[in-house]
Amino acid sequence: MPEAEPLEVLMKEHRMIERVLSCLETMALISDRTGGLESADARKAIEFFRGFADGCHHGKEEKLLFDLLEKRGFPSHEGPTAQMTSEHQEGRDLVRSLETAVDEFERGEKGALDQFSDAARRYVSLLRSHIQKEDQCLFPMAFQALSVDDLNWLQREFQSHDVEDAKRQEHTRFERISDELAARYEAPHPAGS
Ligand SMILES: [Fe+2]
Ligand SMILES: [Fe+2]
Repeated sequence: MPEAEPLEVLMKEHRMIERVLSCLETMALISDRTGGLESADARKAIEFFRGFADGCHHGKEEKLLFDLLEKRGFPSHEGPTAQMTSEHQEGRDLVRSLETAVDEFERGEKGALDQFSDAARRYVSLLRSHIQKEDQCLFPMAFQALSVDDLNWLQREFQSHDVEDAKRQEHTRFERISDELAARYEAPHPAGS
């Protein structure tokens, strides 16, 4: 179904996000076992989550998909889009906690690794369950609620959003970060890539 394409774009991005989530999970595991952290790798993961998962991906969801769904009758202050937006915000707060933990680790502060590991696990768990809810519930509901014209409009707007976002940040860098971290932390490649 070609008109489902904008939702497939989001699902493909989910696979890339899940790959880096697995890397972050492994970093937390290594940090618990060894009492050490490759802070440069942790910073790359943070850059990916902030720039790609939040800026690029959640940006398209919040500014375009959720907004359109609310225009088509989804409730705006409660219900699935409000829930997903609130989880995006929770994720932003956890990425800030991850960054604070890495800063403190580099300054040699006690407890920084526990803080890193705790924030990493909470972020991985939040985003995995968030992605599952979107893939299995919200996107099928969106496909039912939106017309072919809506989906075609969404597809064009997603492309414009990505062009604009690419002026602010280098998108190929996110693929490089994902490949580099996956090579080091042995995350499986996303299905179909
Ligand atoms: Fe989302
Ligand atoms: Fe998503």
